[in-house]
Amino acid sequence: MAILVTGGAGYIGSHTVLYLLEKGEEVIVFDNLQKGHRKAVMKDVPFYEGDLHDSSLLDTVFSKHNIEAAIHFAANSLVGESVKDPISYYRNNVSGSLNLVDRMVKNGVKKIVFSSTAAVYGEPENVPIQESDRTQPTNPYGETKLAIERLLHWADQAYGLKSVALRYFNAAGADPKGRIGEDHTPESHLIPIILEAALGKRPHVSVFGEDYATEDGTCVRDYIHVMDLADAHYRALEKLKSTNESSVYNLGNGKGFSVKQVIGTCRSVTGRTIEAVASPRRAGDPAILIASSQKARDELGWIPKYPNLNQIVEHAWNWHLNHPDGYADGGSDDGLK
Ligand code: UFG
Repeated sequence: MAILVTGGAGYIGSHTVLYLLEKGEEVIVFDNLQKGHRKAVMKDVPFYEGDLHDSSLLDTVFSKHNIEAAIHFAANSLVGESVKDPISYYRNNVSGSLNLVDRMVKNGVKKIVFSSTAAVYGEPENVPIQESDRTQPTNPYGETKLAIERLLHWADQAYGLKSVALRYFNAAGADPKGRIGEDHTPESHLIPIILEAALGKRPHVSVFGEDYATEDGTCVRDYIHVMDLADAHYRALEKLKSTNESSVYNLGNGKGFSVKQVIGTCRSVTGRTIEAVASPRRAGDPAILIASSQKARDELGWIPKYPNLNQIVEHAWNWHLNHPDGYADGGSDDGLK
């Protein structure tokens, strides 16, 4: 039986595909390559380039392959962009997911692991955040992810579609073996931006706000290694298969690092000079986001293998150093060998 991975050519999706293949799973990738990279997926993995709104292509995939479950990553995921263009976020994320769920139900595929986000909480009421805490997104991106979680809830009631929603905190790092990594255009995430500055591709790193109510005044985030996220997807799928019960989990290390601390770690890992420039706050940034992942630990047996920020940055740096232009560097166009 195969697993359909939507958005399997994206950053977290491609690492999960690699991880699943290493576990001996049969994987089918579906991606519109708007943000993803064909090269991030092994050549011999069945790959469908298409949009989630394309019902007939989805039906073809479901009828050609013996699919038992989907892992659904395909989505737009930039907070700032979502504020500027909510319609495209609702269209791509909510309406696209609605169509995927519709075609899954029609094709009798009743298990889905969903890529959700800490952005569903908005400004947190507690630190660390628990799954039962209030969900009140402060931007359209978080709203669309929450809307999909709610759709999955009701699809379970109505059609018996079982789901696990995984709410990631700050995904970072790269494949420890250096085969794939993070390559966004434009890049907006802190760690790759700092590493681009280390490579001289940017003159400096802007520190968005130094007057938050945190120890050094900069925002605190919970960075989690992308391969630990991949492992959590695998475990979520195993749990779905064995219990056939829907659930929601936070995924983070439970430890926060400020922007200044992350820059310090990047300086020590790279040994390069990285200039940091104080800049105004970025709209919509909560001061502190730290996960309680106790539930994932207890119920999925999930124990992050790379909780150390130094190691997360080392793996990201290894990728950036060897691929300063990301997937645009050399190699064939048609997938990882
Ligand atoms: N930051 C800077 N300078 C930069 C980039 C980021 O100071 O050039 C700061 C941000 O203000 C924030 C921290 O670094 O305080 C982390 O920013 P990221 O953009 O890397 O990540 P976010 O915490 O904003 O967003 C992440 C995910 C989102 C998700 C969100 C959940 O990327 O998809 O966590 O809150 F929605």
